[in-house]
Parts: sequence; C-alpha cells; structure tokens
Amino acid sequence: MNLYERIPNNVNLSEDKKLQRALEKWLPNYLDWWNEMGPDGFQQKDVYLRTAISVEPDGWANFDFVKMPDYRWGIFLKPAEPDAKIGFGDNYGQPVYQEVPGEFRNALRRIIVTQGDTEPASVEQQRELGKTCPSLYDLRNLFQVNVEEGRHLWAMVYLLQRYFGRDGRDEADALLERRSGNPDKPRILEAFNQPCDDWLNFFCFTMFTDRDGKYQLSALAESGFEPLARTCQFMLTEEAHHMFVGDTGVNRTVKRTAQLMNQGDVRELGGIPLDIIQRYINFWFSYSLDLFGGEISSNSADFFAAGLKGRYKEQEQYDDHFAADQVFNMKVVEDNQLKDSEVPLRNALNEVLRTEYVKDCEKGLARWNKSLADEGRSERLFLPNSRFHRHVGEYAGQNFDLEGNLISQEEFERRKGEWLPSVEDREYVRSLMHAVTEPGKIANWIAPPATGIKGKPFEFEYVRL
Ligand SMILES: [Fe+2]
Ligand SMILES: [Fe+2]
Repeated sequence: MNLYERIPNNVNLSEDKKLQRALEKWLPNYLDWWNEMGPDGFQQKDVYLRTAISVEPDGWANFDFVKMPDYRWGIFLKPAEPDAKIGFGDNYGQPVYQEVPGEFRNALRRIIVTQGDTEPASVEQQRELGKTCPSLYDLRNLFQVNVEEGRHLWAMVYLLQRYFGRDGRDEADALLERRSGNPDKPRILEAFNQPCDDWLNFFCFTMFTDRDGKYQLSALAESGFEPLARTCQFMLTEEAHHMFVGDTGVNRTVKRTAQLMNQGDVRELGGIPLDIIQRYINFWFSYSLDLFGGEISSNSADFFAAGLKGRYKEQEQYDDHFAADQVFNMKVVEDNQLKDSEVPLRNALNEVLRTEYVKDCEKGLARWNKSLADEGRSERLFLPNSRFHRHVGEYAGQNFDLEGNLISQEEFERRKGEWLPSVEDREYVRSLMHAVTEPGKIANWIAPPATGIKGKPFEFEYVRL
C-alpha cells in the first residue's frame, strides 16, 4: 500500500517516514473502527459526498459518488503564514511555536485528545440513524457529517502522532477504543455519551453540539501552537455544513409542525408537537453549554497566558490581547443564593467563549421563530437560561428553572417533565421515524429543504440504495 498516495495530504507525508510508520499501524485500526461503528447498513452504498482533496479553493469540496469506506480521509492544514506571531497572552508578539512547548505538553495533549474524542463519538452516536432517514437528501447529509467527523479524527491523530511521540501514538490508539455511551470505556465528554437515536436529536445535536465545536475550533484556530491552529482552520470550513444540517433540520421540523398546527392536532396528524421540540432544545443546549468547561477556570487562564487558546475571533474582536487586568462579571451561587461576582478575565474565558456561542444559537432560534411567524403562528421557541440543567461548572449540582432562577431539587424533579424530553416524548418521536428513501419523497413530520446539495434538486438520488 502506498500510504501517502492513498491519504491526500499537505503535510509532506511522503517524506516523513516516522509519521508514515505511525499511520500505517493506525489506518487498519481506523478502518476496523469505521466498519464496526460507522453508519450501519450503508457501507456499500454509493453516496453523493464532498471530499477534500487539497486545501485550494477548488480542491477542498470535490463532489462525487463514493462508498463510505473508500472515502479518502485526508490530512490538511491551512497553508502556513510566513512570520506568524503568537496573537495573545504573555508571549504576545513572539514567533509561534512550531513544536510543542515542553511546559505545556500535557495541557496541549489533553486539549487535542478531548477535541479528537468528540469526532468518532458523534459517528458512534449517529450510526443507526440511516435506517430511519426522512429523505435521501437527509441521508446523504448524515453521511457527509459522519465522514467529515472521521476526517477530523484524522486531523487530531496527525497532531498526536507527529508532535507527541510515544504518548501521542498511545492516545491515537485510545481514540479508537473508547465508545460513546459505554459505561466501561465512555467518551470523554458527556454530551458525546448521550443517545442520538432519532432525527430530531440529530438535528439538535448538529445545531448545538457541533456549534460548540465551531467555537472550540475557532479559539484554537488562533493558537500559538501553529500546527494546531492551521489544522483547526481547515476543519472549520467543513464544520459549517454540519451546523447548516442541524439549523435547517430543526427549522424544517418547526415549519412542518406549524403547518400541521394550522390543520388540527399535531399528534393526530403525525407531526412533532412544538413543546417536544422545545424540550429537545433545552436538553441539547444545556449539555452543549457544559462542553465549554467551568465558568471560573484556572486552566483557561493558563492556556490563554501561554498563547495556546484564545477568545473567539481574538484578532478581529479585541484590541487588548493581554487581558491581564480586566474583570468579568458573572453570577455565582453562594449560601444558596445567586450573587454577583467579579472574576479576573483570564479565569472567565470559558464563559466568554460560551457567551459568544449563546449569541450564535439565538440567531438560529430567530430563524426558527420566523418560520413559525411565516406560517401564521404566534407560538415561539426559546433558549433556556445558561444555568438550567448544567452538569459542569458553577451551576452544576444546583437546580434552576428555564429562566435561571435557583429552585429546590423537589421543584426541579416535579417540573422536569415540562422542561426535558420524557421517555414518552422520546418514544413518540421515535415512533414517527420511518425511512423514506424514494427520491423526491419526504417524511410527514418534516418539510422538504429549500434547495438541494451542490445545485442538485431535492429529487436527486443522493444515495443509491
Ligand atoms: Fe468535527
Ligand atoms: Fe461537526
């Protein structure tokens, strides 16, 4: 096998014998993992997929019919900028790191492993969904997301194998050994152990959880560790489509629900009631907020000081890249009450990033509410307060209502059926999920998309079954 011809890349793989050896060992394990944990039942089907074959504007999005195991998972970094400088923190203005700075080796490895772990996890979470696709268009989008998450795993494995020696190779192996939702060897982050077994879950996941990815990758895309920055910059180009799938998927569901509300009882008509959609939003939004980490975090301060992880659009949005003397105001829980607290800005950077993320999510909600309005409905969807249903950080272990008021455990237990998907909700949604695979046809619970993929009509046969 000629490895470097098989793996499209711009990391000089043909010259790098050490990396070749590491990848030669890892590649068969990756393919075993893909065949065992990738989309179940569709591995031998031709799918109209986008493949990145170079980083040039005409090369990163090549559309053709491909069988998923033959997808060319490549290793791409955005081309280097000459004389790049660290853009923030204590070493602001110094040349970027081309190798891992020794004192941050463990922290950086942890960041990369944690990011890398989410990529195969989401493929595992979504592996059964193909069997209940609402249309061939949606089926294709699911598989596009899946193969690109696979490629993102490659991107992180490249960094581990190229820059972290022996322990990097061990971590790369472990990324293929953990399994989403497995009690003995779970994935690292909890959102990635939650079941994603119906399409409303999938759309909420790609809307809210992939969007966390966008913010994490954006913060790392300006990292002073240049190989990481350039890797993340390229991943972001692909990630945009995943969020599009989620955003428009929820939107089309909301639109169809609104149409059915105008006709009568949504359940009787086979749609998803708006209150169930709201509970799914509450669930995935709150789990996705946890992914940003604690509101007050010395790690975030250390990463920023080191120039490893900045803020969202650090160069574009901020003038002061030291952020050394500023403070950030947030609410904390003290003596069973919410109180205002001033936190040194560098310690509040997880919360700063989370705030940017929430703003972005609000835009999605506005689009969905516009669909309700367009169908003549006065009901509206909303995001819960960021304190609601948190398992990580300042608000974990406390109970809050949707508005963010501190409440008792008893009240939370009594009302959680209003706020979070119940077993019955999930069963009901699952009962609607039947595969629709005739070109041009769509399930009853969701509206068709406004346009197809790459100029093709919705009726196009995106997957040849
Ligand atoms: Fe990804
Ligand atoms: Fe993604």
